[in-house]
Amino acid sequence: MSIHVLLNCVGDPIPMFREAGFATEDVVVTPKATHLEIADLHQLIRGSTAILTPLTIKIDGAFLDAAGPMLKVVANYAVGVDNIDLEACAARGVAVCNGPPPMVEPTADIAWALLLATARRLREGIRVAESGDWTGYDSQLLLGHRLHGGTLLVVGAGRIGAAVARRAIGWNMRVLYTARTPKPTLEASPISATKVALEDGLPLADAVVLTISLDHSTRHLIDAAALALMKPSSVLVNVSRGPVVDEVALANALSEKRILGAGLDVYEHEPKIERRLLDCPNVLVLPHIGSATVEDRLDLTRLSVENILAVLTGRKPPHEVTPSDSRS
Ligand code: GLV
Repeated sequence: MSIHVLLNCVGDPIPMFREAGFATEDVVVTPKATHLEIADLHQLIRGSTAILTPLTIKIDGAFLDAAGPMLKVVANYAVGVDNIDLEACAARGVAVCNGPPPMVEPTADIAWALLLATARRLREGIRVAESGDWTGYDSQLLLGHRLHGGTLLVVGAGRIGAAVARRAIGWNMRVLYTARTPKPTLEASPISATKVALEDGLPLADAVVLTISLDHSTRHLIDAAALALMKPSSVLVNVSRGPVVDEVALANALSEKRILGAGLDVYEHEPKIERRLLDCPNVLVLPHIGSATVEDRLDLTRLSVENILAVLTGRKPPHEVTPSDSRS
């Protein structure tokens, strides 16, 4: 039995595996496996029965072949599974698990932090305040736009999108959402959201929050044409995956002031961030920390271990993802 943990989890997973009857030597932790050369990574995981992986490692056919036929489960230390070839796993009988519950609320918080920060131009405000050049109160200084009573569009209203929408009650916002299927709990009071097509929602929104999963159908969903539909006073927030947005088109829209601002936690080519985005004054960037709280990451570690233990002991894991699972 060989369980490979390919990252530095928050909270040590080894005692959790030991409590379940595994020996310490059954669990191998390689904290920075992401930075290994592919050949070394593939060598490392040879003969594994279970793998706990960060979202930065690509789990494709070559990885699975390198692991070999003993592999039973890949647990992603994330909710998004776009780094995993689900079909290739299914074809080899490898279960794929993720950990949605601890990711939902902290990611919705970060979405709102970015939303408020961009609508109220906090990055520019902090620069002025810290510069030493501030000349005092000015009624025209850094006018943002009102979110209260405005319209929020949640693109891809799954669990995280619903948590973003729920927070909008406090701002008395009208909520629009896109999703593959209607979401009765979002449409019910008190959120009272309305399902719309993306192209119908974008022109109405004061704030657009992306919480949609990345797959072939959502890559560059927000492209030049979509950005052109947004109001000049609106802001875009992305807490899903970078490639959902065409970053060059976004940089163009921002530098030509076709939208007010953007709050980003994720990027097309992480950890690289498009230079022109960084140069736009009202772009607030974070280093993919949507779910990064001590409490939630501890929960994610526990959940990941539970997922692995369930598969290895022939039980149904709490959170399994299959190729037919719909995007959120
Ligand atoms: C983080 O991005 C996650 O998918 O959990």
